[in-house]
Amino acid sequence: MALLERLRAPRPPLPLHLPAHGRGRALAPALRRLLRQPPGSWDLPELPEIGGPLENEGAVAEAQAVAAARLGARRCWFGVNGASGLLQAALLALAAPGERVLLPRNLHRSLLHGCVLGQLRPVLFDLPFDSATGLWLPPTAADLERQLEAALAAGPLAAVVLVSPSYQGLCADLPALVAAVHRRGLPVLLDEAHGAHLGLDPRLPPAGLASGADLVVQSLQKAAGGLAQSAVLLQGGSPDPQPAAERTAALERSLLWLQTSSPSALLLASSAAALEHLHSAAGRRQLERALSRGERLRRQLERAGLPLLANQDPLRLCLHTAAMGVNGLEADGWLMERGVIAELPEPGCLTFCLGLKPPRRLLRLLPRRLLQLRQALGAAPLPPFSPPPLPPVAEPELPLGQAWRAPRERVPLTAAAGRIAAEPLCPYPPGIPLLIPGERIDAGRAAWLLQQQRLWPGQIADTVSVVAG
Ligand SMILES: Cc1ncc(COP(=O)(O)O)c(C=O)c1O
Repeated sequence: MALLERLRAPRPPLPLHLPAHGRGRALAPALRRLLRQPPGSWDLPELPEIGGPLENEGAVAEAQAVAAARLGARRCWFGVNGASGLLQAALLALAAPGERVLLPRNLHRSLLHGCVLGQLRPVLFDLPFDSATGLWLPPTAADLERQLEAALAAGPLAAVVLVSPSYQGLCADLPALVAAVHRRGLPVLLDEAHGAHLGLDPRLPPAGLASGADLVVQSLQKAAGGLAQSAVLLQGGSPDPQPAAERTAALERSLLWLQTSSPSALLLASSAAALEHLHSAAGRRQLERALSRGERLRRQLERAGLPLLANQDPLRLCLHTAAMGVNGLEADGWLMERGVIAELPEPGCLTFCLGLKPPRRLLRLLPRRLLQLRQALGAAPLPPFSPPPLPPVAEPELPLGQAWRAPRERVPLTAAAGRIAAEPLCPYPPGIPLLIPGERIDAGRAAWLLQQQRLWPGQIADTVSVVAG
């Protein structure tokens, strides 16, 4: 019963992690009402009147059609396996086995898993790196132009994946990036897991669909009031109906391959309710208040001299712990003991997700705790982080699925140079692989990984799994 007891435990004073509904405070109102019904009464199978995401008839189909119209999408599908499941389905719809797909280095691991499932060949493009925070930054259009050229020089691509916003609320100039990809006649899959709220307030950048992305995946628990695992896949409008119809068919096929045959009616309803609320007048007002509170908190912290990362999403507050002389993982441990639960600790930063209804005591308690943190652990700023020694565009030397299944051995990181990775090296969160199976670890990469191991205490082993022989 340990798990159930944990779920019953009282909430800590300041839970600033996902889901964005903040322990139910900002659950979409219709979902809240549903959950007040006798427990379990809403746990239903694909009854004819309910249907499922791939049925043409029924309440789910109707809700998906309403959501698509509301969001300006050609089609939309709700998902019950998070943004992960829908990203994988989208990827498999865009590329056939053996085809190459261009992905950013800060890809979420679900995309890598999608490449394994679809036997796709990932081509990874490097990103600008911020030495002060240790974070990857969004690509510029000029970078992407060069990388597209380099990737295409080595063979055709089937699709390009972009990620925006990042976990830390950093947004790319999507219209420019999407246009660069479209000029090469390629489709864009946008991982907008953290950006369901974009475009809904003048303070936020435009949404991916409005920026021209062909397929967009949003998590509905990261920036909307849905339950964990609720997500949506959006298909953009296309001027040419024939390829769009073909794409729809391909998407439905890959959703069928990957989706459970018993999708939870509750999670599907959660997707519908979260989108309906977020895009309603009441939802926008809630978002507006949450953004204002986030901005007020930021000003307060800046006035107190606390270093914050400049980003584009006021609901993500990213403390630049390295500037305070503290590793973000250490800061996280210290705050957790005092009831402040952050979302994402990293060596140079600690990200708090304020959610759609930030707790009232946030403005009083967080500044106090962060000042205490600085007092307790603060020191001279950490030295700059080294960028990963990566080429602008790189492909694993051995096919991803082959390397991941190959006979392997574990070798110390200090002896890894020259070997081929058999497993990803992936601190979680954020779930961004630092090394992917099939990549050869050269001396520079081995030295960088050793450095990473010191920076992520307890998250990266001192050995690495490599292909045997
Ligand atoms: C950028 C990004 N994409 C996709 C995902 C996967 O989302 P989910 O956990 O809903 O499957 C995450 C999760 O953290 C993420 O950060």
